[in-house]
Amino acid sequence: MKIHLLKKDQVVLPTAELKKIALAEEYLNNKFHTDAETLSNAEIAKTPLRSDIINFLLATFAKETHYLEIGVRHTEENFDLINATKKYSVDPGYESEINNVDFKMTSDEFFDGLRKGEFLNPEIKFDIIFIDGSHLADQVKKDISNSLDFISEEGFIVMHDCNPPTEFHASENYYYRLSPSGGYWNGTTWKAFFNARKRKDISSCCIDTDWGIGVISKTKNLGKQSTVENEFFEFNVFSQHRKESLNLISYQEFKALF
Ligand SMILES: C[S@@+](CC[C@H](N)C(=O)[O-])C[C@H]1O[C@@H](n2cnc3c(N)ncnc32)[C@H](O)[C@@H]1O
Repeated sequence: MKIHLLKKDQVVLPTAELKKIALAEEYLNNKFHTDAETLSNAEIAKTPLRSDIINFLLATFAKETHYLEIGVRHTEENFDLINATKKYSVDPGYESEINNVDFKMTSDEFFDGLRKGEFLNPEIKFDIIFIDGSHLADQVKKDISNSLDFISEEGFIVMHDCNPPTEFHASENYYYRLSPSGGYWNGTTWKAFFNARKRKDISSCCIDTDWGIGVISKTKNLGKQSTVENEFFEFNVFSQHRKESLNLISYQEFKALF
């Protein structure tokens, strides 16, 4: 339904003011905005959530499990819901005043300290590492690389936000509040996941729910690597070849792999 800010014939305003109102109306009724809103609403209605998928994977291990979450923010939204024997959390606290985590630092500082033996045991292997910290491709790529060193052979990397519905959700700028995607933002995580999808030494897929849950394994066959050519990581190319770029599958298809 079209948004009208004023019944213009009932008010007397200077032309300059009326032009601003017309521009605001155009902005709100613009197809980029309405499409992004429709796609955001479709995404938030999807189930299962990331916590369900992580718990499904944890339940496949017939042993004690070790879980690491990179980027936690509010523990009740995911971390508290995870059923692992031992859980560890890393977050420098950029987005919340209360930062109730084990390691109040960036993921780079955490992996660096872990390698140097400053905390935990450098030989530790996690069964699942959930990457949901920085959402910029360069940092996420580092998080994937570091995580591959610290997951067990049968372990999984799970990643949030791999399937941004529009280029606005996939912008680099989190702070642009007038974006057609509104408050929803996935950043450029998809690029780091797509980069991993090209690798021959790992296998990966993306579950079509909760903004795209990427799963990476060193040993479990989750599907073939991507053959999509997108050297410059262009969003339009990604969007046109979304299924193949991500190995995008339903949760039912994912569960059938186990
Ligand atoms: C989207 S929130 C995490 C949400 C949470 N994982 C969930 O599922 O509800 C992103 C968090 O990542 C943290 N963060 C940002 N950059 C980071 C980095 N380089 N290393 C670790 N955490 C980071 C932020 O402080 C923020 O709390």
